[in-house]
Amino acid sequence: MSVLQFPNGFDWGCAASAYQTEGAWDEDGRGESIWDRFCHEPGHIKNGDTGDIACDQYHRYREDVALMKDLGLKTYRFSVSWPRVFPQGRGAINEKGLDFYDRLVDELLAAGISPLANLYHFDLPQALEDEGGWTNHRTAHHFADYCAAVVDRLGDRVKRWIIFNEPFIFTWLAYSTGAIAPGVRDSVLALRSMHVVSLAQGLAARAIRDRGSAEQVGIAFSMHGAYPETESEEDKAAAERAHRLGNAWFLESVQNGRYPEIPGIDEKKLGVQPGDLELIKAPLDFAGVNLYTRMVVANNLSGENFRVRMVVVRDVERTDNGWEVYPEAIHQAIMRTWNDYRLPIWVTENGCAINDGPDSGGNVNDDRRISYLQRYLAQVGRAINEGADVRGYHVWTLLDNFEWLEGYGQRFGLVYVDFPAQRRIIKKSGHWYRDLIAANRLEI
Ligand code: FCB
Repeated sequence: MSVLQFPNGFDWGCAASAYQTEGAWDEDGRGESIWDRFCHEPGHIKNGDTGDIACDQYHRYREDVALMKDLGLKTYRFSVSWPRVFPQGRGAINEKGLDFYDRLVDELLAAGISPLANLYHFDLPQALEDEGGWTNHRTAHHFADYCAAVVDRLGDRVKRWIIFNEPFIFTWLAYSTGAIAPGVRDSVLALRSMHVVSLAQGLAARAIRDRGSAEQVGIAFSMHGAYPETESEEDKAAAERAHRLGNAWFLESVQNGRYPEIPGIDEKKLGVQPGDLELIKAPLDFAGVNLYTRMVVANNLSGENFRVRMVVVRDVERTDNGWEVYPEAIHQAIMRTWNDYRLPIWVTENGCAINDGPDSGGNVNDDRRISYLQRYLAQVGRAINEGADVRGYHVWTLLDNFEWLEGYGQRFGLVYVDFPAQRRIIKKSGHWYRDLIAANRLEI
């Protein structure tokens, strides 16, 4: 057995998002989001589930912050719901919506937990989607205005901001496959959205910094590493293309004001307008890495999808939602990000769907989650030892919650939620995480 010591002051936390945990979808003047619309239309979500109630954190935040304190979390990463603040996406502020985040932030600070506020986690106001959503340049400007309003209200207490969660997922994936909200399937629009959101990153970073209160501004990127199926030059080149599109697109644009080179994508297709590239450059204070599994790719002989074909590997360990367990991917993603950008890094999400429930004694013995987290953390530690400036690690997530297309069927929490009763039970992994935070070291 060896011991992995984490740096002093390492920022241990949990991440969550508004739509997945808050509930209260139509309370206190909140407007409709694209996820409300998507879930309320039959056929999209397993079991017909919706985020209408979720973990009811809107009403139970005191109990949840007490749980965080019990676990010894240093940070809680939550997201602000844009349609709570601007029910129509723009126009008049709904002060009652902001009041909720006021209360949550005060409760966190009183518990000694640092708030890390993410300004967007997939829940675009439906009114803006009706005007083209992320394919419309104006949305980028409305987003920056919304960010300014939130920072104006919370910036005296919230010093660390995340502009977006996983821009690749809510642009390319959302608009090209139609699999998630807003359910659009159009690869021309998908490319446009990737530019509009880059523009929004730059405008929002400026808007947040202009308020003068922010200490750190970052973005949480979806990353998977990128592994070629074979060692052939063609597959390696495909892996590099997949990396540029899937892992690095939005980081490259915000850091350097340009897009990674990918054959088949050009400024015309992206809808770049004069002056845009100057605006999208707004170097960050940190890069957030969200990582769960790896991607394996091969050269796509059909030429489709930028000549990248996703490969499903067989006979490997998987979590309960089918994602491959591949700890080395987090090391690859951190080292690539560090080597290419030299930015402080937070692992802003890592975790797994393990669906164990309470045994007859009421205990949730989710040993497979502990094993998953231990092995991924060992790889984070390896990256730190190799020189990467990793400042924190946030488990996705504190509470079992609404897991998008999977509804309540997939459980990622350190805390079990009995949804009908809204009862919380700290799982074995939650107790394990508390011990890890207290020791700041891991035995592996
Ligand atoms: C990430 C999302 C998060 C959660 C996890 C499992 O991609 O950011 O909301 O659903 O996956």
